[in-house]
Amino acid sequence: MSERNLDFDTIIERRNTMSLKYDYAERLGFPADILPLWIADMDFKTSSYVQDALKEVVEHGIFGYSEALSDYYVAVREYFQKKYNYDFEERELIKTPGVVFAIAVAVRSLTNEGDAVMIQSPVYYPFSATIEHNGRKVVDSTLIYDEKENRYVIDFKDFEQKIVDNDVRLFLLCNPHNPVSRVWRKEELLKLGDICLRHNVLVVSDEIHADFTFVGKHHVFASLRPEFEDITVTCTSPSKTFNLAGLQLANIIIKNPTIRRAFVHEYRVSGYSELNVMGYVSTVAAYRNGGEWYDAMHEYIRKNAEYVKEFVDANLPKIRMINHEATYLVWLDFRKTGLSVDELDNKIIYQSRLWLDSGKIFGKSGEGFQRINVACPRKILEEAMKRLKEVFG
Ligand SMILES: Cc1ncc(COP(=O)(O)O)c(C=O)c1O
Repeated sequence: MSERNLDFDTIIERRNTMSLKYDYAERLGFPADILPLWIADMDFKTSSYVQDALKEVVEHGIFGYSEALSDYYVAVREYFQKKYNYDFEERELIKTPGVVFAIAVAVRSLTNEGDAVMIQSPVYYPFSATIEHNGRKVVDSTLIYDEKENRYVIDFKDFEQKIVDNDVRLFLLCNPHNPVSRVWRKEELLKLGDICLRHNVLVVSDEIHADFTFVGKHHVFASLRPEFEDITVTCTSPSKTFNLAGLQLANIIIKNPTIRRAFVHEYRVSGYSELNVMGYVSTVAAYRNGGEWYDAMHEYIRKNAEYVKEFVDANLPKIRMINHEATYLVWLDFRKTGLSVDELDNKIIYQSRLWLDSGKIFGKSGEGFQRINVACPRKILEEAMKRLKEVFG
C-alpha cells in the first residue's frame, strides 16, 4: 500500500458536508460567494492511511464503547520520541476530546475561582474565554511587535511583574504561537519557564501546532528542564497535523503525579469517559504511516505562506505580513490602511468577500490585523489574494 492523497492542488467541494468553515456563512448573513479562510482546519484530504483505517471501522459496523490500549500509546510515544526526542510513560498520557477541553480541565483543576491565569495576547481566543467561563481572572502579558525584526517578542520584565502583582497561578503558553506564528526559541522558553518556577506558576503548554514549524526547531517546553516537566501540562493532538479536528481527540502529557491526579479527577467530574473510536484509529494510522503525506503537506503549506508574503509585498503596499515561522495561519497587519476595526472587518467581508479571522478576537492587541488560513489549494489562495488586491491594492 502507498499513500494516495498527495494531491493538494485539486479543490474539493466542502459545502454541504456539515463543515463549520464552509456551511456556516449563510447563517451569519455573509455574501453567498464568500471565501472562507478562517477556522483552523485544512481543505486537504487527510492521509489515505487514515481514510483506510476509518473505512475498516465503518465496514466492521459495530460502534460500541471504545478504549485505546498499549498499541495506541506506543504509536503516540514513538511519534514524539522520533520527532521531538520527547518520551513519556503510558500512565502519563491522558486522552481528551480536544485541546480546548483539556485547557478547561487544567484551569479548573489547577486553580481556584478568582485566581489569576496568564496569557500572552494576541493569542488563540479560547484561552481567555476558558479562563473567564470558569470564573478565573485573565492576566495578559501582551506580546510586543518588533517592527524591525517583523516578529513578536516577549516582554519578560512585564511577564514577571504581572505574575507577582496578580499572584498568577497558571500560565497558558501557546508553543508555537497562534496567531502570530512564532516558534519560541529555546532561550525564550527557558526564560519563561524559569520565571514560572521562581513564582510557583504552573504551565499549560499548548503544542498543537508543533508539527507546523518552518523556522528553527520546535522545543517541547517540558523537555527543556526536569523542573519544567514537574510543573507542566503538555497538550498535543494529531488534529491540526492530519486534519482530524472533527474526530475530537487530543493527547495530554502530565508527568507530575499530583497534577495528573487533579486533572484526571476534574476530567471525571465532567462526566466524559470513553472517547470516539474514530479518533483513536485515525491517530494510530496517522502517527504510524502518515509520514509521506505529512512531508508533502508541510512543503505545500510552506510554499503557500511564501506565496502570500510575495503577493502582499508586491501588491498590497498598506498591508504587511508578519514573518511566518509556524502554523498554517498567517498574520497580516492592516493598520496602515487607517481603517477602524469595524471598517476593516466590513471591507474584508462585504467588499473582498473573504471570511478571515479578525485580529480583534485574539485580544485588543490583535486589532487592525487579520489571520488567514493558508491550508488550502493554491488556487483558493490566489483567488483570495486577488480579492484583497481589488479592495486594498
Ligand atoms: C492553539 C490552539 N489550541 C487548540 C486548538 C483547538 O484544539 P481542539 O480542537 O483540540 O480543541 C486550536 C485550533 O485552532 C489552536 O489553534
